[in-house]
Amino acid sequence: MNILERIKKDHDTLRSLLDKAEEAEGKEVFEELQRELWAHAKAEETIFYAALAQAKTAKMETVEGLNEHHMINTLLDELNAMPAEGIAWKAKLQVLGELVRHHLDEEEEEMFEDAEKALDDKRSTELGALYADRKKHAMAALEPLPKG
Ligand SMILES: [Fe+2]
Ligand SMILES: [Fe+2]
Repeated sequence: MNILERIKKDHDTLRSLLDKAEEAEGKEVFEELQRELWAHAKAEETIFYAALAQAKTAKMETVEGLNEHHMINTLLDELNAMPAEGIAWKAKLQVLGELVRHHLDEEEEEMFEDAEKALDDKRSTELGALYADRKKHAMAALEPLPKG
């Protein structure tokens, strides 16, 4: 798989976890969503954004993307500090959902187009492997501690 296929697959996982987190009671699904978001953003920034930033046309989009990752992390921090109940929780989770869905769509619509111009097939496949490796290590580092 090339880097765009891998990112698209992770975006679809994130979209489905968001849908589930919005329906769920408690924090379990939210925490799974958070781990996926963190690991995805980490791999995306270090592998995909870094490669795109070298292509001058995509510079503005990558800086915008980094800002959105930052805003997403701020909302995650705030949600972590709250009990998973009531209107305050639901409303903030909804804002997170709107921001994340917007962010994923924008990456797929704007950055993917830039990436197709900037990266040839060989490079895109190489970056795909690097992305997968980075994501795997980030997920391992974020494994929850066993309960009890
Ligand atoms: Fe992103
Ligand atoms: Fe992404």
